[in-house]
Amino acid sequence: MTIDYAALTDRNQTRVSRRAFRDPEIYAAEQEEIFKRCWLFVGHESQVRIPGDFVTSYMGEEPVIVTRGHDEKIHVLINSCRHRGMRVCRADRGNARRFSCPYHAWTYGVDGGLIGVPRHREGYYGELDLESNGLLTAAQVDTYKGLIFATFDPVAPSLLNYLGDMAWYMDTVLEADDGGTELVTGVHKWVIDTNWKLGCDNNAGDWYHVPVSHGSLARLNQNPALFDEDDNRLQISAATGHTLVAYLNEPSATMPRPTQQGTVLTAWREDVARRNHDRLGPVGSRLQFIAGNVFPNLGWIPGSFTIRTYHPRGPDKTEVWSYCLVDTAAPQEVKDAMRRQYTNSFGPSGLLEQDDGENWTGCARSVSNPVMGEQSFNYAMGSGHEWQHPELPGQHVGRGTSEVVQRSFYKRWYEQLTGSADAANVALLARESRF
Ligand code: FES
Ligand SMILES: [Fe+2]
Repeated sequence: MTIDYAALTDRNQTRVSRRAFRDPEIYAAEQEEIFKRCWLFVGHESQVRIPGDFVTSYMGEEPVIVTRGHDEKIHVLINSCRHRGMRVCRADRGNARRFSCPYHAWTYGVDGGLIGVPRHREGYYGELDLESNGLLTAAQVDTYKGLIFATFDPVAPSLLNYLGDMAWYMDTVLEADDGGTELVTGVHKWVIDTNWKLGCDNNAGDWYHVPVSHGSLARLNQNPALFDEDDNRLQISAATGHTLVAYLNEPSATMPRPTQQGTVLTAWREDVARRNHDRLGPVGSRLQFIAGNVFPNLGWIPGSFTIRTYHPRGPDKTEVWSYCLVDTAAPQEVKDAMRRQYTNSFGPSGLLEQDDGENWTGCARSVSNPVMGEQSFNYAMGSGHEWQHPELPGQHVGRGTSEVVQRSFYKRWYEQLTGSADAANVALLARESRF
């Protein structure tokens, strides 16, 4: 059966067929056209500080090892032995001189080169070419202010091109303070019964659900500012499917909205806000990035000091990897407060995370039902009422509450799958030029 892409969504992505969330054929096409083409987040430079440091990660379904080589460069190696495919590294992180396969002990350097093969002389008569049997690697690796990205597409545009206007918004988090950011050691990982896109389209900036799904938090009076309607809250498509929800504070505002609790964090935020005008500029210093998504699957919730990847695990499963991202220059007691804020709100036992996971699994249960499975999800809120903010980069800024961010996400998804001629994505244009 071939996929009728035109039937999956309308021109403005105000609806997306439930088939897109259950069909193995569409899932397979996503692996080819999205997870083998796009730049994917694989880790943070703070995880691989010195030669030999490594951390395991994923690019879609493909397990990878991110290493710091002896050449000081970052390498992204596919974690699968060239002999029979066994994972050569089964630790989450560490420092290694080499990776020795547990099956027959083919051994690879931290740059992926094959450096040892048992019985090379007696068994292979010295004929096995070591040079061409190293671990396969990502086609391109690059970093953006500490974040490590990789792509399997050798002709993908540069990472900076890929991020486009989103880089400006990311700067407001990654350069909020001197010294950049680092990860708190350890990654929360869990599997939920949902399609990967449902986590991403929420993380893209779904403000609509916040006062409803997370209403219990409002009743606890933890973050009342998050639940008020506010014209300075914007939903932004930074083009090519990268999106966010943010506040643009008034120039006269002396302090950011209180999205964090506790005097330590509040005082730190006020201090940073006073100092970051020069670094972020007159507009960037007023922007308060609440949540967003770098297409396809890197979610941001800077308000709770977390970034996460929604790794696809089949049409009906998603493996969430959740990281705590803090400012390197913050004092330890502030970093500790950030970590507590993160774990209280997100991560597997976070108050907000549990609300979200329940919804995403509930939505996913509907996609194969005999009647509702034939219907589409609705993403129409605010369609046709997008506007361009005069001070902000990007397009289609929705004010207050809008589903502009989900439409942007599914527009990019559709363009990746179909190679649409009107794709704004430079990657597609570059790829077409190959043929
Ligand atoms: S599978 Fe790795 S050495 Fe055989
Ligand atoms: Fe949520």
